[in-house]
Amino acid sequence: MRNIKAIGLIGAGHIGSQLARLAIANGYDVVLSNSRGPETLSALVAELGPRARAAKPADAAQAGDLVVVTVPLKNYRAVPGAPLAGKIVIDTNNYYPQRDGHIPELDNESTTTSELLQAHLPASKVVKAFNHIYAAELTTHGQPAGTPDRRALVIAGDDKDAKGVVAHLLDQFGFDTVDAGPLKEGWRIQRDTPGYGPRRTAAQLRTDLAAARRYRDQ
Ligand SMILES: NC(=O)c1ccc[n+]([C@@H]2O[C@H](COP(=O)([O-])OP(=O)(O)OC[C@H]3O[C@@H](n4cnc5c(N)ncnc54)[C@H](OP(=O)(O)O)[C@@H]3O)[C@@H](O)[C@H]2O)c1
Repeated sequence: MRNIKAIGLIGAGHIGSQLARLAIANGYDVVLSNSRGPETLSALVAELGPRARAAKPADAAQAGDLVVVTVPLKNYRAVPGAPLAGKIVIDTNNYYPQRDGHIPELDNESTTTSELLQAHLPASKVVKAFNHIYAAELTTHGQPAGTPDRRALVIAGDDKDAKGVVAHLLDQFGFDTVDAGPLKEGWRIQRDTPGYGPRRTAAQLRTDLAAARRYRDQ
């Protein structure tokens, strides 16, 4: 894909490791990072092969032409901003108060998870993606473009070009894309909405997005 050779990953757990596998399978270099240090990722790097390496988060952010943030939401403020300036940043994160603690502006729905990350990374182009598919399905549900009833995934973002790049990446990874609009519309695919979790085609996801209700209205 245009100008994207390496994908950086901030977070290498269930989702990060699966996205790394997809990225490697599609010819990208991958730089993985976690909170404990690169040495703890040696088994995953060995599995992924010579196109993968592990680094500290700031180094993974620097090395990636596109970077994925896939950490527990409570840790989003630790994501290094300077090396991500000007870059497309994919945000997979969801809000689970029992894991993340209560975040008042999410509880009162005055903002959304991806808008929080965008506010933390004002010089980056944040695109919400991969937040509503189970990690294991990332490597089992993908199908070639044009497959009837191909699974679709939602994106949201404020930068049209960045969304185009991410939609192309999704297509490479085996999924159609449904654009929910700007980041502020990302709530339509948050936890406990109809499209969150199940396998859906693009047409079904559009119906799900339209049917989504705010937590206060559920
Ligand atoms: N699991 C799913 O099926 C799924 C699906 C869609 C979206 N999501 C969302 O995606 C995000 C990641 O989920 P996950 O299931 O992949 O989580 P996970 O398996 O718990 O992995 C989290 C990763 O983030 C790393 N991390 C934590 N704090 C960090 C920091 N400050 N700097 C760098 N790395 C840090 C962890 O490293 P250490 O292990 O070294 O601490 C770990 O590699 C969450 O917001 C989740 O809600 C999950």
